[in-house]
Amino acid sequence: MKVHLPRKKSSLWVLGAAFFLFIATTVLVTPTSAADAPTGVTNIFKPLSTPAQAIHEVSLLVLSICAGIFLVVGGLLAYTVVRFRCRVSDDGREPPQVYGSNKLEFAWTVIPIVTVFVLFLATARTIFDVQGAVPPVGALNVTVVGHQWWWEIRYPELGIMTANELHVPVSETSKRRPTFLKLESADVVHSFWVPQLAGKTDVIPNRENRMWIEPTQPGTYVGNCAEYCGMQHAHMMLRVIVHTTDEFEKWIAEQKQSSLDDPQARAGRDVFLATACINCHTIKGTQAMGTFGPDLTHLMSRETLGAGTVPNTAEKLRAWVRDPQTIKEGCNMPNMQLTDNELNQIVAYLLTLK
Ligand code: CUA
Repeated sequence: MKVHLPRKKSSLWVLGAAFFLFIATTVLVTPTSAADAPTGVTNIFKPLSTPAQAIHEVSLLVLSICAGIFLVVGGLLAYTVVRFRCRVSDDGREPPQVYGSNKLEFAWTVIPIVTVFVLFLATARTIFDVQGAVPPVGALNVTVVGHQWWWEIRYPELGIMTANELHVPVSETSKRRPTFLKLESADVVHSFWVPQLAGKTDVIPNRENRMWIEPTQPGTYVGNCAEYCGMQHAHMMLRVIVHTTDEFEKWIAEQKQSSLDDPQARAGRDVFLATACINCHTIKGTQAMGTFGPDLTHLMSRETLGAGTVPNTAEKLRAWVRDPQTIKEGCNMPNMQLTDNELNQIVAYLLTLK
């Protein structure tokens, strides 16, 4: 049966294809300048770190080759659909059927092989460059441990422990200071991903993966766990805070200190130390030495609670300690059934942990 498509439909189709191509090329050629500050929005097209830059370059090559193939195939298809569409004046006979053409078959075998080979070589080179990088003198070493659902961050050489916020120095051309990360998991498979800094690396139980970042602009970079790891996978965010050298030294000095012993908050500290809180949390300078949950020594120096779930304000902290399950359902911290008085005292104490 012959079907006559109204002319209008095919021109709509061509318009649609043109629009798609326009969007695709706009995204691809959006200029990035080295002076761009981190945007707070994860974007693989705005790399601000050496490995992310290398990946960005190879992805542009891959995308432009794919866009070229799309243009040729889509263009020929669009041309064929429009030029050879069914017309009212058609006599209904089949067009001549052509079988076998060595030239054509040779072309459509060799061109894809060469294309794939170019893509393979470019990708393999970038992988070896990124993974084979040797830490220069002055590189920072950090161990990141994925937990359901938060990130434990350790600085073994500095004796610092924190959570969900990785602080690193900026790397300058005159003084390179990349950060090399050891990735471990305490439970299930997670994936460490801060798009503007580096590619994804899986965080696997009983295995140590390695990756590195070398941010070139100070600021806060956002990332997320990129491997489904259970109920609160979406609330396993991380922040990388990149400091100038001076700021970073200042941050280290602050984090190295023990918790503040504020006489005003002693009552809260006593309640804290008398409850099961200490089984899971460490507060340096007290007998709380649990390692199951985040280290709270400098809790109030962090921007968020629950790995990016809510901002770290007095109000949210109170709601969290009262019952974390109302904020992050399924998280491993239970409702401690505190009385209002105990809750007030503990929160007053935690607020002093700057
Ligand atoms: Cu951890 Cu998803």
